[in-house]
This record gives sequence, structure tokens and C-alpha cells, in this order.
Amino acid sequence: MDLHKEILQRCQAQYEDIVAIRRDIHRHPEIGFEVQRTAGIAAAELEKLGITVRTGVGKTGVVGDLNVPGATRRIALRADMDALPMQEQSNPPYKSIFDGKAHMCGHDAHTAMLIGAARVLNEMKDRLKANVRFIFQPNEENLPGGAPAMIEDGVLEGVDEIFGLHVWPLVDTGKFSICEGPALGQPDTFYITILGKGGHAAVPQITVDPIVIGAQFIANLQSIVARNVDPLDSAVVSVTQFHAGTTHNVIPQSAEIVGTVRTFRKDTQRMIRNQLKNMLAAVTSMHQAEYRFEYDGGYPVTFNHAQSVQKALQATRTLAGEAHVIYPETPVLGGEDFAFYAEKIPGCFVFLGIRNPAKDIVYMCHDPRFDIDEPAMVQGMALHAMLAMNYE
Ligand code: NI
Repeated sequence: MDLHKEILQRCQAQYEDIVAIRRDIHRHPEIGFEVQRTAGIAAAELEKLGITVRTGVGKTGVVGDLNVPGATRRIALRADMDALPMQEQSNPPYKSIFDGKAHMCGHDAHTAMLIGAARVLNEMKDRLKANVRFIFQPNEENLPGGAPAMIEDGVLEGVDEIFGLHVWPLVDTGKFSICEGPALGQPDTFYITILGKGGHAAVPQITVDPIVIGAQFIANLQSIVARNVDPLDSAVVSVTQFHAGTTHNVIPQSAEIVGTVRTFRKDTQRMIRNQLKNMLAAVTSMHQAEYRFEYDGGYPVTFNHAQSVQKALQATRTLAGEAHVIYPETPVLGGEDFAFYAEKIPGCFVFLGIRNPAKDIVYMCHDPRFDIDEPAMVQGMALHAMLAMNYE
């Protein structure tokens, strides 16, 4: 039998069990690093297979090693485990039983699919040519992420290449989509205070008006993307808050400006950060005001390496058929902490189609009505398994 047919058949045989695991995790969502129950499920499932398991990696992560005698190379497959602090709005039979916590990003499915892949690979281990590392990671949703703590604890030691996937509501069940190069952006936040000198609105000559200065700054920064970013690159600078003043006849002391910067390239990100600060310094000094500037870097850009993309393309096209692999997919300006792994070693992050309008499964990740079309989990398990079986 063809390898991909055998893998799909074995994944299909795991399907009901893996759905049950996914629903159990969905019913009991955990947040951030506090994923002890979910991590316990992953660890117990790997141990049942006789896979070497380390727990408490990066606080609450789980790492399993399926070792192949004589193999020198190692592929890593990563799933994240954490839910979101939000309320699930729809009413599936497996609805979250915890108020204010819900798996609205599909990490329950990521965890279950990687468990399924571990089972299938364990069945086929005699034919594996490389060692396989299973990574179950906490705290994907919150800065600083869960990946840095796991990397700190050595999760990438001895790993040659890493793959991960995300359930994707913009793509139909049965399909995959893959970006080349940047897949997800770097989402940063800036916090600015303009410190002026308040006073009577009718006597502006003895004030330093932070509203006029702030307005000039906001108008000026529109030119950063238009005039400083390469037209073939992409970036966004948006001001999302501008607060100042309390009444109609007083010029306030200060103004607060908050916004977001989204980029795909490190040099572009650095340039925008510098330009924001330079413009702020110039416009405030022009008016004898002062400023505070804080800039929080989000996750780095999630970068898909060419060699890993080729492997992911080969695996997905064999599994789903060439017509069902969207490539190259348009990158998304959201963030993902898989980025930290792919900064260290070659890797690829694949989107798994889970959209099914007939079942009203159309809502984006982080929407309170989000759900996944469960049969897609066979494809997700199979992708993990196929990547590992092909690896040498
Ligand atoms: Ni997610």
C-alpha cells in the first residue's frame, strides 16, 4: 500500500479516540502556563506508548522522544495546549465547563492530533528513519509565549527541523495552506505620553498644548509606511487610542497615544520603531514639550524556511492532492510563538483547513463561536505522521 494511504488509514482508525480526547480537553480548558491537566493527558498518552517523556519542560510543557536505533537526525513536531480567557458562545455537547475559559483557538485539537500522530508513528516505528520529538507547549497566547521557556530548557537540542500546524477557519476541511517565508507577522505595541503644559484654553500662548502636538505626530506618522517602507514589503502602523483632556475650556497637561505596528521583516520593524521615536522627538522638541516612549516587541515573525516548505508541500500534496494545497498562501499579520523555534532551526508552520459552512463552522480563531470541523483532524494527524515518516 502507498505510504500516504496507510498513514491516512491508520489515522482514520484513531479518529474516534482522538475526537474524544479533543472534546475532553475542550470541556476542560486551561490558560497560559496553568495547563497541568492537559499536559497530564499528553504525558500519559505518550507513556502508554513507551515513548520517553519529560514533563515540566518550560514550566508545564511535555516533551516525548520516539528514538530510532541508529538514526542520527531528529524531527520535532509541536502542538500548543493553552486556551483563552473568554466565554464560549455556542453550545456544542463538549462546551467548556469553566466560566471565562474556552478553547477558541483550536489548541485542544492541536494537542489531540499530535497524540494521534504519536500513536500512528509508534505503530510504524520500524520504518522511521529519524528520531521524532513531540513537543506539547503551554502559554502560546500570552507574551512572552511558552516557546522561549521550552527552548531555555533544551527542547531544540539535537533537533534538525521543526514543524507545527494551526487549524484555520479561512480554509475548507480537506485542504491545507502554506506560506513561503513570512507566514505570520510581528505584532508590536507602542505607548506614548506627550508632556505639555496645561492652562486656560483662552490663553494658549503660555501653555504647551499636548493635543496639537499629538495631532501633528499622528498626522506625521502616516508617512512612515507610505514613504519609508519598501512598496514590495508590508507593514501597518495604526494609532488605536488618543486620550487627552477633561473639559471644554482647559488645555490639558498631557496626552496619551497608543497603537500597534505590524511587520514581516526585522529591518522594517526596527526602522519603524526608530522613525516613530524620531518623529516624536522632533515634534515635541519643536513645541518645547517632552515625551515618554515605550515600545513592546511582540512575537517575532514566523518564518517558513524554503527547505522545510518543500517538505511540507510534498507531504500535504501527497495527502490531500495538489489541488487541495493553497500555495503560496498570503501571510497573516497576526502573531504566533512558533516563531521562536523557527528563529533557531529550519521549520514550517502549516495551516490546516477546518472550515465547513454546512455545519456553520466559519468563525475565525478567537471568535466566541469558533469551532473546528472534527473530520479535518485526520488530515492534521496524517500531516504530522507523514512529515516524520519521510524524514531522514
Ligand atoms: Ni492559536
